[in-house]
Amino acid sequence: MAHTPFTELLQEDLKTLETNLRDLLKPHLSQKDHLSLLNLACGRGDETGVLAKILSEKSKSSHLQGLDIRAAEIDQANSRWKAELNKTKGQNTSADFITHRGDRLLDLAEIGTPDIAFLRHQNFWNDKPVWTQIFDQALEQLNDNGLLVITSYFDKEHELATEALEKLGAIQVGSIINPNSRALSDAPGKSVDKHLAVFRKKQ
Ligand SMILES: C[S@@+](CC[C@H](N)C(=O)[O-])C[C@H]1O[C@@H](n2cnc3c(N)ncnc32)[C@H](O)[C@@H]1O
Repeated sequence: MAHTPFTELLQEDLKTLETNLRDLLKPHLSQKDHLSLLNLACGRGDETGVLAKILSEKSKSSHLQGLDIRAAEIDQANSRWKAELNKTKGQNTSADFITHRGDRLLDLAEIGTPDIAFLRHQNFWNDKPVWTQIFDQALEQLNDNGLLVITSYFDKEHELATEALEKLGAIQVGSIINPNSRALSDAPGKSVDKHLAVFRKKQ
């Protein structure tokens, strides 16, 4: 049986993410002259094109700041996305990726107060104290009307992350379950963007 090439699988995942994110954010993300998004623990930032598209539908200009502790992934993200976003017609989003710890976010004065904090495939399950810090600092850094968006690979991890965020004072205002999310063959029980949820911080 012929295998679907990995790049095609990734493209399909991103198409699904785009549809679900647009639906998830629609009632909550208002039109604004400028929007800023902080992509925390972004790895290579494969979803940058999707995020840029959604931001540019809602603003005249936007900036996407990615951050991860893995320098090699951050280098890949910078070299791919700075060039790719520049080439995309009608695109008004700039992007920049830095190597830094998400649990030391408050050390970074240049982050400003983003409109959206985004964490794709958050990893709360793996290290609860560190991810509690990441969530806490992301909420602290967000502007007052800001949105925090997570996606998760599996049910229990999503449930625990949601609980942790609510304990930190976040209010869940929307969620989507993706019943057809692609199962990861090398990680039993996990599938791509299985859950999405959006939170606001308590005023
Ligand atoms: C499950 S991966 C998700 C990567 C990417 N968001 C995606 O969906 O492909 C979790 C990411 O968290 C990053 N990470 C782990 N601890 C971190 C920390 N303290 N600060 C920033 N990033 C961290 C890892 O390097 C990894 O890229």
